[in-house]
Amino acid sequence: MRIDIQLIPLLPDSSLLVNRTVVVIDVLRATSVIVHALSKGALEIIPVETTDMAFRQRDHFPPGSTLLGGERHSKRIEGFDLGNSPREYVPEIVKNKRIILMTTNGTKAFHSVSKGKEVMAASFLNIRAAAERCVERDHDVMVFPSGNNGKFSLEDAVCGGMLIDRIRKSIRVGTNRNDCCTYTVVPTPDHGRVGDGLILGDASISAHILYQRFESNLLEAFHLSDHGKDLVRLGFGDDLVYCAQTDISTLVPIFKDGVIRVPSPPPSPLGGEGKGEG
Ligand code: MLT
Repeated sequence: MRIDIQLIPLLPDSSLLVNRTVVVIDVLRATSVIVHALSKGALEIIPVETTDMAFRQRDHFPPGSTLLGGERHSKRIEGFDLGNSPREYVPEIVKNKRIILMTTNGTKAFHSVSKGKEVMAASFLNIRAAAERCVERDHDVMVFPSGNNGKFSLEDAVCGGMLIDRIRKSIRVGTNRNDCCTYTVVPTPDHGRVGDGLILGDASISAHILYQRFESNLLEAFHLSDHGKDLVRLGFGDDLVYCAQTDISTLVPIFKDGVIRVPSPPPSPLGGEGKGEG
């Protein structure tokens, strides 16, 4: 498996999307909101690129079935039901509702990479589950951090690095290759290129090393980042704390035909609803 990461959010060549698992990351805050809202029972999320599209799309659905969420300059958009703070997406509001989401970078990113074989949403909240799905799929991976208005974003790169780390660990556990893995924080000359069946491009190696710098304190990366600082200045400091949690959800939202949903689990012999995580 080869993993590339598009550290600057420019549209990758389509050869790097088709036949690949594509992982969209916008930890502050779009993909965190998506994972969180679906885990609180939202039916589906429709990511849109403009505010007008959001209002127009809503008219296609029965009244009361659909909420508008998102931000402009990080604040709730006039006429929208919800902003882009995960903590607003509580079960009492979102359960069984469709959410049309419009954000500055994150929701556009899904449309940019829609040619991917499978396009998923990842954040720290569901990072292990996303990594495991990448491994299960066993296609090459393109990680697509949404960035910050076309620029590199520290927090998304760190999350991409963590995904790479988790994929490595998952492959090692899954194939019992612990004995042949010599991967270390300070890379060997063939860092990531032998031993575990993974090929990391230069950007992937860089993102992984960056993650290792912040591994013990993800919140520090948020506080150092441009967007993290903006959010704190606007009074959304609690969102940083929320979005820095790892593995609180096992859901892997998939973007397909313009809609983000959690794929139905295979039927369980014990029954159960299988929707939402509480
Ligand atoms: C985005 O899509 O750019 C973000 O989610 C912005 C934010 O939440 O402030």
